[in-house]
Amino acid sequence: MTEFVKVASAGEIPEGQRKLIDFEDVTVALFNVSGHYYCIEDVCTHDGGPVAEGELDGYAIECPRHGALFDIRDGSVLSMPAVVPVQKYEVRIEGEDILIESPDDW
Ligand code: FES
Repeated sequence: MTEFVKVASAGEIPEGQRKLIDFEDVTVALFNVSGHYYCIEDVCTHDGGPVAEGELDGYAIECPRHGALFDIRDGSVLSMPAVVPVQKYEVRIEGEDILIESPDDW
């Protein structure tokens, strides 16, 4: 069964902002876009760049290394040079808590 872990509280991440979260082997970013939360891994599938730290335009995140674009809602590729989706994690809201699917389950 998928485990969810609390990674933030409501109000902690302003709209349009993100929070980077380190797990043992994985760094992920949790984004707030218009009050909805999305989570992807901070590893570009093109060449390992810190994709989640790039510029966000709407739902499109641009990898700062070579400029690939991904949709933070589902991790899908929006533009080259990446061709493989970035790992995304399910987000769940429970009261004031924001939880994500545990990357340690992968
Ligand atoms: S590492 Fe992200 S576009 Fe190359």
